[in-house]
Amino acid sequence: MANYDGRWTTVLVDVEEGIGWVTLNRPEKRNAMSPTLNLEMREVLETLELDAEVKVLVLTGAGTAWTAGMDLKEYFREIDGAAEIVQEKIRRDASTWQWKLLRMYSKPTIAMVNGWCFGGGFSPLVACDLAVASETAVFGLSEINWGIPPGNLVSKAMADTVGHRKALEYIMTGDTFTGAQAAEMGLVNKAVPLEQLRAETIALAKKLVEKNPVVLRAAKHGFKRCRELTWEQSEDYLYAKLDQAQLRDPENGREQGLKQFLDEKSIKPGLQAYKR
Ligand code: COA
Repeated sequence: MANYDGRWTTVLVDVEEGIGWVTLNRPEKRNAMSPTLNLEMREVLETLELDAEVKVLVLTGAGTAWTAGMDLKEYFREIDGAAEIVQEKIRRDASTWQWKLLRMYSKPTIAMVNGWCFGGGFSPLVACDLAVASETAVFGLSEINWGIPPGNLVSKAMADTVGHRKALEYIMTGDTFTGAQAAEMGLVNKAVPLEQLRAETIALAKKLVEKNPVVLRAAKHGFKRCRELTWEQSEDYLYAKLDQAQLRDPENGREQGLKQFLDEKSIKPGLQAYKR
């Protein structure tokens, strides 16, 4: 098993029972996303994608924050005077991990929101497939409070998850809301007391670890892509995904499922998965 101890300075990685724990690790800066962190997260995601031990990725934060968003000092002030091309690269590093890699990641992803979640943090939050939050975590689109509209894909992330009125309310007021409210509005799947957060996340991750990974990938990619396609395009795309999953699936899940239900009568797919 790979040992990632000390490999990155702003991110901790630990692999345990199929779960790749990725912890943003700048607790003294509330895990604000600096250019260094963004670059390291690109590497982390690309590395864990090829680590066969990692079946599900969980993204969390050290200390009291999930992330306080983009680093106002290192990502904004300190690069204000940099050459345009440097600014472009720094922005691209941020986007690359925060949503481009994460959104269509080849493995299931869960955001485990342990505390503060502000601004730029909403891009990776929504790019993760699922999210579990502490009831008392505090969320906010604070950009308006310090003089910019939400940057990167924050507004798109809100538009994809939360209703029109709530999204605009929080974008325009900068008011904070709790993990419990985030669950009510569909920004996260569920909110639980902080003491139960890790156990709940592990329980959810374990469900995913047990599923057929090829089919899981086709299912999530199909869903995410078809949100932006017409019905006709979606039909083509989703059938292509379905056929691709069948072609690529080394365990031949579909045949197993049909056999166990129709011939052996050993499972009811409505109630449980086929035995792998
Ligand atoms: N960028 C850079 N530094 C940040 C930061 C950010 N987004 N968020 C926190 N920090 C730094 C603080 O400057 C402080 O650094 P210092 O110890 O060198 O002074 C340190 O992290 C601790 O922050 P502090 O404000 O004392 O922590 P807190 O627990 O009292 O409050 C927050 C936590 C998240 C409510 C508060 O830090 C905050 O409002 N951060 C900005 C959030 C934001 O607007 N993000 C949007 C960015 S797009």
